[in-house]
Amino acid sequence: MPADTALTNTETRYGLVARSLHWLVALLIFANVPLGLIASDLPYDTSEALARKAWLFSLHKTIGLTLLALALLRILWALSQPHPVAVHPEKRLETFLAALVHWLLYSALIILPLSGWVEHAALDGFAPILWPFGQGLPFVPKSEALAAIAGAIHWLFTKILLVTVALHVLGALKHALIDRDGILARMTRGTPAGTPGVRGAKTGPALLAALIVIAAGFGAGMLGASRPQAPAASAPASTATATGNWQVQEGKLTFSLAQMGQSVEGSFAGWTADIAFDQATGTGKVTVQIDTASLHLAAVTEQAKAPEFFDVAAFPTATFKADITPAGETFTAAGTLTLRGVEKPVTLPFTLRIDGDTAIMTGETRLDRRDYGMGPSYPDEATVGFPVTVKIALTAKRQP
Ligand code: HEM
Ligand code: HEM
Repeated sequence: MPADTALTNTETRYGLVARSLHWLVALLIFANVPLGLIASDLPYDTSEALARKAWLFSLHKTIGLTLLALALLRILWALSQPHPVAVHPEKRLETFLAALVHWLLYSALIILPLSGWVEHAALDGFAPILWPFGQGLPFVPKSEALAAIAGAIHWLFTKILLVTVALHVLGALKHALIDRDGILARMTRGTPAGTPGVRGAKTGPALLAALIVIAAGFGAGMLGASRPQAPAASAPASTATATGNWQVQEGKLTFSLAQMGQSVEGSFAGWTADIAFDQATGTGKVTVQIDTASLHLAAVTEQAKAPEFFDVAAFPTATFKADITPAGETFTAAGTLTLRGVEKPVTLPFTLRIDGDTAIMTGETRLDRRDYGMGPSYPDEATVGFPVTVKIALTAKRQP
């Protein structure tokens, strides 16, 4: 029998628009779920592997957002149309289950891409969405905690989606192969089925049951995401061993680099600065010791701590020892940075504002990760850039 080409629904059939959207969405779901699973499982131990993983994630996110647009279109269309009646209104439990599964499918089609999008927008860098409209979301702050919650919800709803799609497909097959009624043909060829005006069970209880499953999904997602918090990006530097005449009260040691062409910012929560500075001559000495394990770098902290980069297990401390000299209105700290056991000369220009016994210092310098043997498996800049901008800002108090 030829397929029905009428565009709109009636009480007994799905029109061509509803059917086309149903099968297009189904096709993209069957592509995007494996893509998400494969991309999550891929290794990222070399530049090529990371580029492949990022490309698959970019594709996953882009198809996911296409699905979101299609799902919204589909829901708006469904709202503008008569909803075909249940084919077996007398089978109340079956009708209830079918409606529950449909509500869950529609909900997952919205919640999944939105949670993925929020997770993406709350984190810096890695695997951009393949579109020109920017990567952030207006009301989503950069926040690891928010990303963890959105990620947990995304993960959980992929499981809810998989179970409901499985039930949905099994149901469709049962109707086609065992009951041999017209339900599958109603969605494939648009053949009418059911009796106009005979609706059967009310949809309210199915919607309520779907809302309970969704609320449980959100609750479980939030609980699942309540793992220990990442260290704060800015922590007071301790000066327990300081011998200098200035004591650091608070400070921030951050660095930024390009990852997949986008800037990501990292920080060290644990570091000490021993500063001896003579205000009259503008000269002095500084020793900064950095606890490399206190490193935090957006979504890739663990990768940055691994032997490939900071190798924090083998090299727990990085040290910058320098002499301070005046340079016009500003100053320079020129000395040696020892990182991963490699010693290299580094010059840090900085500005200093001294107000009574308080000094505010800000400085910035540029390093090249290759000088310290970082990222040998990432020999080009496609995934991890070579230059790293290091910034330090601190407030110190003069010691009596
Ligand atoms: C209907 C659309 C979508 C479906 C069906 C879907 C499905 C999946 C699946 C099955 C996974 C693997 C989960 C696992 O490891 O078990 C996944 C992971 C992921 N998806 Fe999606 N996704 C969709 C949309 C999106 C969108 C729009 C984005 C971002 C803009 C996104 C971002 C991610 C991310 C970042 C992960 C990795 C999660 C993590 O490891 O934290 N997804 N997705
Ligand atoms: C091989 C896969 C699939 C088959 C055989 C299938 C089959 C069907 C059939 C026969 C119906 C009509 C039920 C009726 O007339 O009462 C239907 C409706 C529906 N399907 Fe699927 N489906 C599949 C995949 C999917 C997927 C992946 C999704 C979404 C993630 C989905 C979402 C829906 C929704 C929301 C409805 C209800 C439409 C409405 O009445 O508004 N389906 N499906």
